[in-house]
Amino acid sequence: MPNKRTIGMWLYKNGGGYAIGEKIISKLQERNIETIDDIDLHKAIAQNKNIVHNGVKLNKLDLFFSYNAGEQTVYQTYLYQALNRIIPMINSYDSFQLTEDKFQTSFVLRNAGVNTSDYKLFHRDDAYQGLKKVLKKWGGMVYKPTNGWGGSGLTKIEDKESLQALVPTLNQSNRREVFVERFITYDKTDFRVDVVDGHFVGCYGRKAGGNDWRTNVTSGGSVFIREPNDDVIDIALKAAAACGTDIAGVDIIFDQEKERYVVLEVNGIPAFATPSQEKMGLDFNDKKIELIVDMIDRKTKKQKSN
Ligand SMILES: Nc1ncnc2c1ncn2[C@@H]1O[C@H](COP(=O)(O)OP(=O)(O)O)[C@@H](O)[C@H]1O
Ligand SMILES: [Mg+2]
Repeated sequence: MPNKRTIGMWLYKNGGGYAIGEKIISKLQERNIETIDDIDLHKAIAQNKNIVHNGVKLNKLDLFFSYNAGEQTVYQTYLYQALNRIIPMINSYDSFQLTEDKFQTSFVLRNAGVNTSDYKLFHRDDAYQGLKKVLKKWGGMVYKPTNGWGGSGLTKIEDKESLQALVPTLNQSNRREVFVERFITYDKTDFRVDVVDGHFVGCYGRKAGGNDWRTNVTSGGSVFIREPNDDVIDIALKAAAACGTDIAGVDIIFDQEKERYVVLEVNGIPAFATPSQEKMGLDFNDKKIELIVDMIDRKTKKQKSN
């Protein structure tokens, strides 16, 4: 069957992911697209022109859909890069890599005219003097490991003492760059806006817990139902487009001093609503699945050879 299309998939199974995967597979099946599931690149090997997983030559697939944030290894990412040189991937390796890095993302966003927090990047050997100056200018800042997630490693710096305390962390890190953002005065809530293939999918909010200034659920934050306004949707769509992400979850807060929305980061693998969040009323999963299936269908359409 020359028109039969086959894609590979690597989708998280926890938090309702298993059922989401089943839905995607059956919707693709309706369009005569077969899915080979559970392709963990960590277990693949490359030999000559092929990348092989369980006897399947992945480079012969029509597309690979990679959606598993929790289980990424350096080796897996390495093969992601190689595979995407040969077949289309969602997200593309380039945009996946971009969104994994907070500085690179902010740099691209700013150059695309999308508001972010003000930031600075230094080589760590030269950082201390520079950081002292920006601290004076900004009054407060956040140190962010460029590859962090879940709010971990973020350090709020408000005075010389907290700046001093950061120095050993910088020296112990195996990274050379030091990335800091201006601390934004905001109401301790954010918007998470999901975008697929240039379309707005859904939105929810998160609220920081207790005295924490971070809204991450892993830092004690909680999810709530939140309708976005047009400005929030607009900035999310622009951010997703600037990053070249087929699928994005854009984190946005409102800067109370500058009175404008800013993008904090773009997530390349934003989770679907979990079963308990669906019970709360987050109802965007079906729309998201539909848009993903449409996009896979479009990206794998075979050219007619006549
Ligand atoms: N510049 C900032 N000013 C104020 N709060 C911030 C700033 N940057 C991040 N935060 C808070 O910290 C949380 C985590 O930051 P984020 O950049 O999204 O990193 P992570 O990848 O760890 O989620 C945000 O959701 C927000 O609540
Ligand atoms: Mg975040």
